[in-house]
Amino acid sequence: MTKGWTKSDWRAKPRIQMPDYPDSAALLATEAQLAKYPPLVFAGEARRLKKQLAEAAEGRAFLLQGGDCAESFAEFSADNIRDTFRVMLQMAVVLTYGAKVPVIKVGRMAGQFAKPRSAPTEVIDGVEYPSYRGDIINGFDATVEARRPDPARMLQAYTQAAASLNLLRAFSSGGFADIHRVHSWTLGFAEHDKAERYRELSNRISDALDFMNAAGVNSDTAHTLQTVDFYTSHEALLLEYEEALCRIDSLTGQPVAGSGHMIWIGDRTRQPDGAHVEFCRGVLNPIGLKCGPTTTAEDLKVLMSKLNPQNEAGRLTLIARFGAGKVAENLPRLIKAVREEGANVVWSCDPMHGNTIKSSSGYKTRPFNSVLSEVREFFAVHKAEGTIPGGVHFEMTGKDVTECTGGLRAVSDEDLSDRYHTACDPRLNASQSLELAFLVAEELTSLREGARRVAL
Ligand code: PEP
Ligand code: CO
Repeated sequence: MTKGWTKSDWRAKPRIQMPDYPDSAALLATEAQLAKYPPLVFAGEARRLKKQLAEAAEGRAFLLQGGDCAESFAEFSADNIRDTFRVMLQMAVVLTYGAKVPVIKVGRMAGQFAKPRSAPTEVIDGVEYPSYRGDIINGFDATVEARRPDPARMLQAYTQAAASLNLLRAFSSGGFADIHRVHSWTLGFAEHDKAERYRELSNRISDALDFMNAAGVNSDTAHTLQTVDFYTSHEALLLEYEEALCRIDSLTGQPVAGSGHMIWIGDRTRQPDGAHVEFCRGVLNPIGLKCGPTTTAEDLKVLMSKLNPQNEAGRLTLIARFGAGKVAENLPRLIKAVREEGANVVWSCDPMHGNTIKSSSGYKTRPFNSVLSEVREFFAVHKAEGTIPGGVHFEMTGKDVTECTGGLRAVSDEDLSDRYHTACDPRLNASQSLELAFLVAEELTSLREGARRVAL
């Protein structure tokens, strides 16, 4: 892809948000170990995802990216993976029904361990500690010992990612994701309005499947209906880990990040001359780039030319995360920059990271209404600009947590302490996730109907 690039070039660039490992011999040993391990994903899969994202850029597919803010060692279990996978399947059903295009499912899973932080230290009960940077780097407990960066954590993260991916692959093709089971995905789902709407939708899908079966349509498409493509993604923040898992694609000779199908660059580490951009520009995977209120049009232009010099379709996804009330002033200027460059991008909306507040009860939270507003504003701007909203990016879980306030089964400030389990940012729970999927589906339906009216 990029002539003369090597996987360690990032080391010569300014790096931020990465730990200084006190034991450099241990770090080297871990890197050597990881470099010998098999990659978690393969180049052909990353290329297939890129092809599908190219469709999303044109409005012929839609990206659904979601999962934990930070995966943790403590919360790792088959049930947690299954529940998040199941809610994503449900959301995808709702979106497919609304958009009438394939939904590309990408988990923030099997590698989403490293976190950028707003400050290098934090004060807990009057004592200052180094900040928690995600389980792949240091521990969450408020002790000096736990907060020390430990390279051996990379091996545990790799093992957890491998086991997660193994389960996700089994769920995707082993029967769980068979669309004929659309009803059973509601199991474990509390009774509420959106669950009812989901059941109605499932009935319609079942009817359609029965009809297809009766008409003999299903034999050729059986495989398509019984399995799904499910991809993994994470922020490529810990570059020692990324470099150690970087491999050469035997088919094309190009470097590929073996740590996940899609990797993204966070809002804090997108300096055009920084280490993170340097690493990501050289691998063939689809790349996400977070764009926030401080992203300038000039920087975006430089970043697009660095990250996608060939203007390849599906290579670059711009993940807008401005905050409710700020989309109208920020998105148009970035759309203009993309237009001026003639750049090929997928526009995705992350309505989470611009809407984090501290609740009156002291918890970090996100009001569900702000999340909904940002999604609406994102669609409205694209409609006004005549550009294509290609996807959404959520922090969510299949569990019934109380981390974001609001939603149909309203979570209040006082409720936050009930089931606040996130290792980092507040996530949508299963019911809020589904509610959001219905909103996005409505936006997509109205876009489609608008386009049809224009065509008539
Ligand atoms: C994230 O996606 O968890 C994150 C830190 O986002 P951002 O870089 O957009 O703040
Ligand atoms: Co987050």
